[in-house]
Amino acid sequence: MPLPPSAAPDPIARFLDALARAAAASPHDATAAALATADARGAPSVRMVLVKSADARGFPFFTNRESRKARDLAANPRAALCFHWPALEEQVRVEGAVTPLPDAEADAYFRSRPRESRVGAWASRQSAPLGDRAELEAAVREVEARFPGEEIPRPPFWGGYLVAPERIEFWRSGPGRLHHRTVYVRRGDGWEVGALQP
Ligand SMILES: Cc1cc2nc3c(=O)[nH]c(=O)nc-3n(C[C@H](O)[C@H](O)[C@H](O)COP(=O)(O)O)c2cc1C
Repeated sequence: MPLPPSAAPDPIARFLDALARAAAASPHDATAAALATADARGAPSVRMVLVKSADARGFPFFTNRESRKARDLAANPRAALCFHWPALEEQVRVEGAVTPLPDAEADAYFRSRPRESRVGAWASRQSAPLGDRAELEAAVREVEARFPGEEIPRPPFWGGYLVAPERIEFWRSGPGRLHHRTVYVRRGDGWEVGALQP
């Protein structure tokens, strides 16, 4: 019997707890997640992104808004994320609708990045064909010349997206492959919770 939504614990708090345990357990980046999108024909593609936090609204990530993933999201604004933390033997899967984040949030995140990442964001037309590595190095030099100081504004083609979760599944390894799976499904303002067979 699923719990009534009001009685369901908060899966975002549970995710944040797992993320903190993963960060403590492993020197590798605990915030890396596979992001799956699909194009207008429904053909899937997947790549890693960093998801550094989550809150009641959902799971944010930042990228080039003209990249392949951004083109997919323009045609089909839904995505799935999958976190895997080998040190914990845990996985978290998130599925939901995707919306662009407000520019102010992208500005704040962009400012927090190292200078060379900010230069790289300007220099790279992410996902476009590259003829020659020298082309990219020349683009980096041009950006360096254009913004010689520490201050580098966010490129207008770079920003954030939010995956608003409709379903979150927590998976934990169990003995004899009898793993533990708990799924939270959005129901109005709350969550319906259930277990799945491994
Ligand atoms: C661990 C890891 C984290 C990454 N984080 C990001 C990220 O936060 N944003 C991003 O645009 N690309 C990130 N990348 C690169 C993407 O995986 C991908 O190569 C790039 O975004 C282009 O994808 P696309 O052509 O499907 O749009 C990351 C790669 C790895 C391996």
